[in-house]
Amino acid sequence: MKSKIEAARLQFETDLAKATTSEEIENLRIAFLGKKGLITDLLKGLKDVSVEEKKEIGKDVNILKGFVAKSIEEKQTELKKAEQEAKLKSAKCYDITAPDNLELGTLHPISLVQREVEKVFVSMGFTIEDFSEIVDDYSNFEALNIPKHHPARDMQDTYYLDNGQLLKTHTSAAQNAIMKKYGAPLRVIFPSRCFRNESIDASHENTFFQMEGIMIDEDISISNLIYFMKTLLSEVFKRDVKVRLRPGFFPFVEPGFELDINCEICGGEGCPTCKHSGWIELCPCGMIHPNVLIEGGIDPEKYTGFAFGLGLTRLAMMEYGIKDIRVLNSGNLKALTQFDTRNI
Ligand code: DAH
Repeated sequence: MKSKIEAARLQFETDLAKATTSEEIENLRIAFLGKKGLITDLLKGLKDVSVEEKKEIGKDVNILKGFVAKSIEEKQTELKKAEQEAKLKSAKCYDITAPDNLELGTLHPISLVQREVEKVFVSMGFTIEDFSEIVDDYSNFEALNIPKHHPARDMQDTYYLDNGQLLKTHTSAAQNAIMKKYGAPLRVIFPSRCFRNESIDASHENTFFQMEGIMIDEDISISNLIYFMKTLLSEVFKRDVKVRLRPGFFPFVEPGFELDINCEICGGEGCPTCKHSGWIELCPCGMIHPNVLIEGGIDPEKYTGFAFGLGLTRLAMMEYGIKDIRVLNSGNLKALTQFDTRNI
């Protein structure tokens, strides 16, 4: 009888190790503890044992019974937990508050042109950087050769925070930090939202997007600047666009230029979007002023560079024929969703 009990224990341990589902464990419970189960049989067999042996063997069978019941319960709990976790993992998140008829979104026209321009510059070895929209006076003005009380500040009034910080007026605000972070040589673009305290009309907004780019190396000249600007425009417009380069003043470049493109809304005849001039200022640019390089920790004796501040908002308007800048921040989905032609 003792060897039968031992055999039953061994059998149970082997079977238990093999059981991997709740169902298999339940079958095991029936096979050992059920009415016709192995342990029930052993208990029934006690009647054939001598009175002296009955006490000890009865105790052994009961110990085995307790062991089997406890092991089954533990394994059952363990398995249920694992099954539940697997179920949760494979289940899709279900948000009962979400409307069930949501259409796929589209990219905003500014995001579309931003991606296009990024692709062009990345293919020419530029990296893309990000920078805060809230900056200090130093980054936005002083590091760019615009000291306090410089008249150039008048053209860039913005929104000031109580702590003296401000909403950046141009992407140029990131130039200094990026120069300090990477040093020279450097090829980088950094798109961002910018802000100005402007009266709003068809071509002015208080919130707009620019993409700044800088390239710094030995022997960089205006020819490099013109080459990159031409490549950019032909890649983005994929057609001939009339361009003009004229001198422009920005304290952080010397010489500085205004790069204008023929107004794509009126074809150059004059309209409210181009303020009736036939031209749109798209990409002011120039050779980085030595003071700005020095402030960024770069030796102007060894390195030169160009910088540009591409008006992403204006580029989107020209590319998609959007007459009024106010549409872009309007949230008017009828107007804004018609430009994304990707297959999504
Ligand atoms: N930050 C200037 C603005 O928003 C634009 C600009 C002009 C950027 C010349 C440049 C530059 O990088 O070289 O008015």
